[in-house]
Amino acid sequence: MRYSGTVLVAGATGRTGQWVVKRLQYYGIDHHLFVRSGEKALEAFGPEIVDRISIGRIENQDEIDAAVKNADAVICAIGGNVMDPETPPPSAIDRDGVMRLAFRSKECGIKKFILVSSLSVTKPDHPLNKYGNVLTMKLEGENEVRRLYGEEDYSYTILRPGGLIDEGGPLQHKLIFGTGDRIATGTINRSDVAEVAVEALWVPEAHNLTFEFIQGEAAPQESFERYFKKVAQEQ
Ligand SMILES: NC(=O)c1ccc[n+]([C@@H]2O[C@H](COP(=O)([O-])OP(=O)(O)OC[C@H]3O[C@@H](n4cnc5c(N)ncnc54)[C@H](OP(=O)(O)O)[C@@H]3O)[C@@H](O)[C@H]2O)c1
Repeated sequence: MRYSGTVLVAGATGRTGQWVVKRLQYYGIDHHLFVRSGEKALEAFGPEIVDRISIGRIENQDEIDAAVKNADAVICAIGGNVMDPETPPPSAIDRDGVMRLAFRSKECGIKKFILVSSLSVTKPDHPLNKYGNVLTMKLEGENEVRRLYGEEDYSYTILRPGGLIDEGGPLQHKLIFGTGDRIATGTINRSDVAEVAVEALWVPEAHNLTFEFIQGEAAPQESFERYFKKVAQEQ
């Protein structure tokens, strides 16, 4: 097995989160789910998932603590709904929520934290920031993950994908992959974001770096490990 710990998937019933769970299952990696709705989790993954669910919200410290005690690593694919004014704003979810999840995870002994963020978070004038400064809020969440998990004996991987699409399963395209915030625009399948997040568990070159990526030309891939290695070599 490529990674032998248990992975908590935060936002496991989201569109990317569901793919993360599927890829962990594909690789036979033990997993636990942090979700708002048990019913939605059962619908997505079937009754056999029932013992692997912790129900809660990223706003609630006790619910986070109950979930992270089941894990060795976290993959966070939570994101607020910026189009719905009835839901908590990005400041509550993508910034404060992510900071809380990262802080409590570390306090509870989690060694590895993988965060799905977004392209363009360092560009305050980006049009998406009209929606509750979502990109800036995500950057602040990222910063806290880097601060907490950049310490010795811990590791983080921050992933900044382009616009998310659902056009099929993983590993069907090359990636345009780098570090920093230089790619202006592009799209990527949620299944490939999940694949990148799961591979980051076991590829040493994925650790303590921030990656940006979009989809390249169609071509079946065995894995995305080489992309991490190339970027790490260039550092
Ligand atoms: N949309 C894009 O084009 C795009 C581009 C780049 C990056 N991203 C980022 O990529 C990530 C995944 O995006 P996605 O489109 O797959 O997301 P999604 O389908 O909207 O799923 C978001 C997940 O977050 C969960 N969530 C929301 N508020 C929560 C709260 N208060 N407590 C706990 N969980 C909460 C949702 O729970 P429920 O399942 O209960 O609703 C859901 O599981 C997000 O961080 C997003 O911002 C998106």
